[in-house]
Amino acid sequence: SIPTRVKLVEVGPRDGLQNEKQDVPAAVKIELVHRLQAAGLKEIEVTSFVSPKWVPQMADNAEVMAGINRLPGVRYSVLTPNLKGFEAALLTKPDEIVVFASASEAFSQKNINCSIAESIERFAPVVDAARAAGIYVRGAMSCSVGCPYEGEVAPARVGYLAGLMRSIGVQHVGVADTIGVGTPLKVQRAMEATLRHFDLDDVSGHFHDTYGQALANTLICLQMGVWQFDASVAGLGGCPYAKGATGNVASEDVVYLLHGMGIETGIDLDKLIDAGQFISDFLGRSTQSRAGKALFNK
Ligand code: HMG
Ligand code: MG
Repeated sequence: SIPTRVKLVEVGPRDGLQNEKQDVPAAVKIELVHRLQAAGLKEIEVTSFVSPKWVPQMADNAEVMAGINRLPGVRYSVLTPNLKGFEAALLTKPDEIVVFASASEAFSQKNINCSIAESIERFAPVVDAARAAGIYVRGAMSCSVGCPYEGEVAPARVGYLAGLMRSIGVQHVGVADTIGVGTPLKVQRAMEATLRHFDLDDVSGHFHDTYGQALANTLICLQMGVWQFDASVAGLGGCPYAKGATGNVASEDVVYLLHGMGIETGIDLDKLIDAGQFISDFLGRSTQSRAGKALFNK
């Protein structure tokens, strides 16, 4: 049955900005995080501790983490692809880390320069170290419905990856449609394959909106009882390894959908729209959120 309350994980500062070509100063990222938490977001994916040669926009990771005025009850997470990244992240005291693997081999190579199996071997000590430090571990499963290089990805591949994630101690996994090609039944199958390895309380949806399917994909997951979703304010984002791919579904649009269905989020939509407007103004472009466009200055 459809959940009565949903938790949104705001990934705009990380997934939304990681591929941004303009320099976004740490102060702007910090201000964005402050506005997001003021809007009621309880979990924010702040940055990633990856190679600055691969993702220069996230090179200010430690500065951004240090600059945030943390609010009690808000969880701050960061991506860590390996032990080097985890050790750097640990110094900044994240509440949560995210390890990220791909359901497709080709994307694994392009994104993190190793096979799926190698990535799991690399994550195992990261997961152990994080859990020993009392840090919660999420896993992101990229290309769970489609891959820019391999095309459709079978649900069995997603189940296989979810099983590997579980085997190394990952506590929660996100089914990610990295390039936004998924449609509801395909997403449902990927989610079902994941639910053979993780409980309903330990899975989330991460949908990019390239083909305008992200809200439909969110809805079918809600109907399955899934109550945790990633979203990106103003629909920020794009993928360096998938031409034309857009950001995640806009947080404002998901909140509009959820509130319209009577589902609680704890988020103030007006303040969220202001946060989206703040970053869109900085970037010099209009928001990608449909609800944000419709409601701004109304
Ligand atoms: P590599 O080149 O294979 O790694 O990269 P390496 O171990 O051979 O190291 C090469 C150099 O990078 C060395 O420096 C290392 O020290 C350095 P050098 O000796 O050449 O000066 N290095 C690091 N520096 C800082 N932090 C680190 C780190 N690790 C190594 N953690 C690596 C492997 C994974 C590091 C690289 O491929 C990488 O950083 N990739 C970036 C991946 C990324 O950030 N992708 C985007 C996020 S995932 C995503 O967006 C999907 C998601 O949203 C879900 C979805 O939508 O699908 C989560
Ligand atoms: Mg993503």
